[in-house]
Amino acid sequence: MTDTVQRDVLAGIPSDEAIVRELDRRHVFHSWSAQALIDPMPIASASGSHFTDYNGKTYLDFSSQLVNVNIGYQHPRLVEAIREQAARLCTIAPSFANDARSEAARVIADLAPGDLNQVFFTNGGAEATENALRMARLHTGRHKVFAAYRSYHGATAGSIAMTGDPRRWASEPGMPGVVRYWGPYLYRSAFHATTEVEESERALQHLRDLIMVEGAQTIAAIILETVVGTNGILVPPAGYLAGVRAICDEFGIVMIADEVMAGFGRCGEWFAVDHWNVTPDLITFAKGVNSGYVPIGGVVMSDAIAETFQQRVYPGGLTYSGHPLACASAVASIQIFKDEQILQNARMLGTDVLGPGLAAIAAKHPSVGEVRGLGVFWAVELVRDRDTREPLVPFNASGADAAPMNAFAAACKQRGLWPFVHFNRTHVVPPCTTTADEARQGLAILDEALDVADGYYAGR
Ligand SMILES: Cc1ncc(COP(=O)(O)O)c(C=O)c1O
Repeated sequence: MTDTVQRDVLAGIPSDEAIVRELDRRHVFHSWSAQALIDPMPIASASGSHFTDYNGKTYLDFSSQLVNVNIGYQHPRLVEAIREQAARLCTIAPSFANDARSEAARVIADLAPGDLNQVFFTNGGAEATENALRMARLHTGRHKVFAAYRSYHGATAGSIAMTGDPRRWASEPGMPGVVRYWGPYLYRSAFHATTEVEESERALQHLRDLIMVEGAQTIAAIILETVVGTNGILVPPAGYLAGVRAICDEFGIVMIADEVMAGFGRCGEWFAVDHWNVTPDLITFAKGVNSGYVPIGGVVMSDAIAETFQQRVYPGGLTYSGHPLACASAVASIQIFKDEQILQNARMLGTDVLGPGLAAIAAKHPSVGEVRGLGVFWAVELVRDRDTREPLVPFNASGADAAPMNAFAAACKQRGLWPFVHFNRTHVVPPCTTTADEARQGLAILDEALDVADGYYAGR
């Protein structure tokens, strides 16, 4: 705010907060929004699992922003690693070899399962899924991709076409060759299943049926979120991922696990697939790899896919692929995770605090239809009626239809908890570094705020 011209223009605006707000409204065009209908909150600072507004009000972050700040805010060692790299070398083109990039690729490949040994770096998740699909198509010489309903894979042309939620609708017609399938979701089973075993078996048979009618020889890839994130924290039933792996092997299809949200600690593992001991051909990552301190994402690929591009050009690239600042921050973040046992903390939060705490909340509040999750990745699904499972708000509700969820969210915020809300669900997705006490404080607020949701309950 030191620029004198700006000061003149903004003369009369009473505070720094008001200036931030005013300039935002005048000049910043926000994602996924009708610009005149939003009022973004100015944030002054953040630390650990909390962020603070300009009035000094602090929020416990149960959303990790966009489920990406896995290490918490302003981790001093991570900030220092970025500072050090900035002093040494801020940028160098992807065509050169660079120590930060080499080391980031080495440690990520080291953590990845099986023979996933090479990393293509991107700036974020959408570019990762976009490139994973390009690799699968060129590797197989086929063009179709199977993508799930209730999924999100990013907002660029290919990634939004693969996305199975309403964010895709406005971008249609999109990339051809996407075939949509239902993944497992026992609470709202597309297969009329009543047990996890049935759900898993039927979801796999559904994939086989689709492959039969689409023609296996036309299908390059099956993409899935290992644990579905924004669309509901849908944890796959036992046997499902192994079943998809077996189908891909049988038909020569590339298995892409999108771990942009589920990876790097969110599920209490480096990669969520580790939970089920399944090795996909490609894993996409972003978010938690460095908690968004500098934008980065990527694709980890199997030796067989890397081999395809040994003598043949890979036709894709990005000016900032393997950006040194981003890579140095990923290396530092992974080391901090190891030194501070952050995966262990995420697991402990899931098994000892969030799991039992949310089960107690479900037992108490009639509007809670189901809680599910693992690690620091939980959903609380709210319903109007437990018997019919009618959602508390309709699918993709907005405006007045979304009032019950908005009222619930407002009750959380008023009490100092920042919730993640999507459709009829709140997701409990704090940083992996959250302490047990902080998590309990958040659950206590959630418990109070759910009285608001109960007010809309219409069941017995
Ligand atoms: C599973 C998944 N894939 C891809 C993306 C897209 O990532 P980005 O927003 O970094 O492009 C997201 C973002 O939320 C995601 O959750």
